[in-house]
Amino acid sequence: MTSRRMFFSTLAAAGFAPLAAETAKRGMRVLSTRPEDFEMPMEGFLSEVTPIEQFFVRSHHYTPKVDLASWRLAVEGEVGRTLSLSMDDLRKLPRVELVSVIECAGNGRSLYEPSIIGLQWEHGGVGNGRWAGVRLADVLKQAGLKPTARHILFDGADVPVGTMPKFQRTVPTAKALHPDTLLAYEMNGQALPVSHGFPLRLAVPGWGGDCWTKWVTRIQALDRDFEGFFMATGYRHPGKAVVPGTAVDPKLMKPVESLHIKSVIAAPLEGAVLGTGPVTISGAAWSGDSPVASVEVSTDRGRTWKPARLSAALSRYSWRTFQLAWTPPEQGHYVLMARARDAAGNTQPFAPEWNPSGYLWNVVHQVLVEVAAAASAPKAPAAPATGTPNARYKAACIGCHEEDVIAQQRLTRAQWDRELTKMKNWGASVPDDARNELLDYLTSRFGYRPRR
Ligand code: HEC
Repeated sequence: MTSRRMFFSTLAAAGFAPLAAETAKRGMRVLSTRPEDFEMPMEGFLSEVTPIEQFFVRSHHYTPKVDLASWRLAVEGEVGRTLSLSMDDLRKLPRVELVSVIECAGNGRSLYEPSIIGLQWEHGGVGNGRWAGVRLADVLKQAGLKPTARHILFDGADVPVGTMPKFQRTVPTAKALHPDTLLAYEMNGQALPVSHGFPLRLAVPGWGGDCWTKWVTRIQALDRDFEGFFMATGYRHPGKAVVPGTAVDPKLMKPVESLHIKSVIAAPLEGAVLGTGPVTISGAAWSGDSPVASVEVSTDRGRTWKPARLSAALSRYSWRTFQLAWTPPEQGHYVLMARARDAAGNTQPFAPEWNPSGYLWNVVHQVLVEVAAAASAPKAPAAPATGTPNARYKAACIGCHEEDVIAQQRLTRAQWDRELTKMKNWGASVPDDARNELLDYLTSRFGYRPRR
């Protein structure tokens, strides 16, 4: 098994390193080369529909190669009739198209303090796509879904990293049967790209990206809760703020479902030095189960707010771009803020609501800019940590993934200690006599430090 996995990871390393370079060229932040985790650049928020070249990618496991000729979708469990469908079979069902935001539950995780282990998403773990496919309800009807079905389980063709469990997630039957929940085979008018789940992915508009299973090959209707890792332990939220830095029993947490109302300012960018002339403040706003109703912008540290102009909604689940024209009254230092509201009256908080996995960040975005006599380029961000890799660290930690996922963390020694145990569970070899050396090394290079 190990050798098969090493083979896969070597294969993946050879195939995906050029892809990562290509991705960085398109302005995406590479959070992990393999598995593939790429963040949308800030300019992506200025498009009504996010171009595929800028669309964020989140993969727990290695990207599979799928041969469409032999590909089948199995439908089983609490159904009257087990199905095995080809893509041609699926295309015989009515085609449905809709625009929807997909946002990673962990988008914004890097903004929490104290810092939280996991991919360090800033703002761009989100995109607005045009999805086309068939209603999941139509497929379930064809299989004769039984009234005993409570959750629908989705399985993909992706190849697990190390000994981590397969990425398997369930959606409650009511949401699965919603007419806007799709099995999508197209994205932005073309066949689903490989990184986005070719040939078929789930689209669950309004809900977190963790529900949008990619590379779907099997659908199983269950008459009970699913106890798999990614439902029972992963993607759970306490549903309220907890004391920062504390652990919460996973049993007291609920699965992440609806997204929260949120807005991001994409222009001007943080650190910009503007001239004294007129500026357009712009960005995008989106929400979960209730649509975006308004966005207000403040340029005076939250004292006064003005309504921004919103683009037309492409659908109930689409993000809406916003603009506000602003002429700075004088030279100085300004904080630009945006605050969205949904139709149900929910709005964004001003202070973070810390939770153990760093999910659903939607704090009012604050962008610090300087207004000077003439505009100039923003200051370059601080260089990432450097150093010669320690041999035991290289042997233990680089293989299943690259250093990129490690270098973006800002963890205390105790947090790194827990991470070593987790990696051991996922199949890493962490010899007891190397543990202290590894901890010293990880803490000295990737220890807790302020964000900037
Ligand atoms: C046997 C394979 C394997 C090895 C070796 C390995 N990891 Fe991982 N690592 C994983 C898996 C699986 C994930 C989770 C991937 C995902 O869900 O996106 C991960 C993710 C991570 C992350 C991202 C945060 C998280 O927890 O998801 C960090 C940081 C990390 N590993 C650190 C390390 C360190 C430090 C070492 C060396 C002790 C190491 N890894 C060795 C399998 C491995």
